[in-house]
Amino acid sequence: MTDSMTITRPDDWHLHLRDGAAMASVARHTAERFARAIIMPNLKPPVTTTAQALAYRQRILDALPDDTGFEPLMTLYLTDNTEPAEIARACESGKVMAVKYYPAGATTNSDAGVSRIENTYATLDAMAEAGVPLLVHGEVVDGDVDVFDREAAFIDHVLLPLTRRFERLKIVFEHITTSQAVDFVLDASERVAATITPQHLLLNRNALFSGGLRPHHYCLPVLKRERHRQALLDVAISGSPKFFLGTDSAPHARAAKQSACGCAGIYSAHAAIELYAEIFDQAGALDQLEGFASHHGPDFYGLPRNSGTLTLRREEWQAPASYDFGDDTVVPLRAGQSLHWRIQA
Ligand code: DOR
Ligand code: ZN
Repeated sequence: MTDSMTITRPDDWHLHLRDGAAMASVARHTAERFARAIIMPNLKPPVTTTAQALAYRQRILDALPDDTGFEPLMTLYLTDNTEPAEIARACESGKVMAVKYYPAGATTNSDAGVSRIENTYATLDAMAEAGVPLLVHGEVVDGDVDVFDREAAFIDHVLLPLTRRFERLKIVFEHITTSQAVDFVLDASERVAATITPQHLLLNRNALFSGGLRPHHYCLPVLKRERHRQALLDVAISGSPKFFLGTDSAPHARAAKQSACGCAGIYSAHAAIELYAEIFDQAGALDQLEGFASHHGPDFYGLPRNSGTLTLRREEWQAPASYDFGDDTVVPLRAGQSLHWRIQA
């Protein structure tokens, strides 16, 4: 039994850091584990320009101690009005790595997202030309489609046509949750990849209702059936370079989660790599963790792999019931429960 392992320092290819005092409370959790993270732009107001992304990047660095070496990889929030010239500015900055596509109304702070993907074609052309990846929240927003079917419907109605029209565009299908998404990514060209969250590898939709309604297990896309969790796990440990770590850690204040209309988002940054280690360990695939967590992401983005390392030890510890979050608190995944791997400081 492996009780300790050292891997190339990992990166988180999908992270919500929020802003202001809330961000200052949680950013160190990510910086303690990961060298880099792709920072989601769904602030209020959203990060739609390179200038805004650079200012946000500086606020992130200012919220961290000087010596972490953590590098925020910034993204722009795609709207119907994002101009091709903005892509040129993003590339010139050297700090903006990708553009996030939220279908308008699909999730938290997505109101300003894309209403019709056709409206963005000129900008997608510029991105394909410049090699800037499109990061996709893959759910249709049609209220007539069952919430558990929205990802599969998105593949058929949006993603397949998009990959056919823009053959050279790099696409990351974010936080995939279904066997249909796994199959789509496997069948697509090498320009299409996907991130997988810890919660979608650990939990199925029963976790939303076990013993009562569980708001801290609610995220979007929502947890799916066990057979989908199994398909995600199988491909995560398969060694395929098309799949990599993206936590989608998305902190919300406790009051916003434990509410008559609770926000979507699971906070996992406090134990992100530890949870993935547990998942891979339980699947008998610890040897595949480094590829998934530290190699496949930078290889896809065309960035160097990290030179540092991270050591994980098999050790029981208990996640706290909550962490400070600005002037409120955030309840993390596994709150008050055991974790089985620990990072070495
Ligand atoms: O659960 C989610 N939370 N899914 C998203 O797509 C957004 C995120 C958030 O920002 O809270
Ligand atoms: Zn997200």
